[in-house]
Amino acid sequence: MSCPTGKAGAMFAILSDIHANRPALDAVMEEVARLGIMRLMVLGDVVGYGPYPNDCLRMVRGAEVCLQGNHEAGVIEALDEQWFNDAAWAGVEWTRRKLTHAERTQIAGWKPTGEHAGVQLAHGSLNPSDPFDYLLNPRSLRAHFAVQTAQLCFVGHTHVPEVWTEGSDLPVEIPLSGAFKPTPGRKFAVNVGSVGLPRGDDKRASWATYDPDSGEVSLRKTKYDIKEMIRTVRHLNLDPVMQDKVLKDLGA
Ligand SMILES: [Fe+2]
Repeated sequence: MSCPTGKAGAMFAILSDIHANRPALDAVMEEVARLGIMRLMVLGDVVGYGPYPNDCLRMVRGAEVCLQGNHEAGVIEALDEQWFNDAAWAGVEWTRRKLTHAERTQIAGWKPTGEHAGVQLAHGSLNPSDPFDYLLNPRSLRAHFAVQTAQLCFVGHTHVPEVWTEGSDLPVEIPLSGAFKPTPGRKFAVNVGSVGLPRGDDKRASWATYDPDSGEVSLRKTKYDIKEMIRTVRHLNLDPVMQDKVLKDLGA
């Protein structure tokens, strides 16, 4: 990746829940390069559901940090079948068969939470007893913020881009541009959404940038050819339960 301005080179792109959707990841990485961003953090669920786990694992190798999501934990048998619904487990088993030994070793080295460049990171939550909790209700928010020590924590897992702050049960209202600067003295958890399988009507790839110098965070959306991805998934020889789930989440 080039860095035309120098300034953008300090910025991070933060990606989560790629879910083996290579066309979505391709589009985001093109946008990352166009913006001159050189640094990448990945918050887990690179694989699971989607048909391109090997390509997506290769594409995140340059990340400064990569967390383990629940789908990676399932693939390496750190989470068992009871944890997953039928479609997710079908995706876990299908992905396990597709991965090489080296790729399984790659994801076995990842952790569900971490810390990098002054911010905390979690696939789901910093709650040490439930790192795959979903940050979306007062109970999960309290358990998360009780252990968040940095001003900023980036999370994924729910596939919904939004910002939470300690002491409030409602998401923070941020400008339509998606850019905001955290208020000093307050702690924020920023959910970057999902690159590969966003929830809701807007199916563009969702991700974020973070400038460690200014503290500014931007929630971003990137367009890609979802219709082409839907056509491809329909024609691949996938597990039918997993295939239905992917098509539904892509908005087919
Ligand atoms: Fe997840």
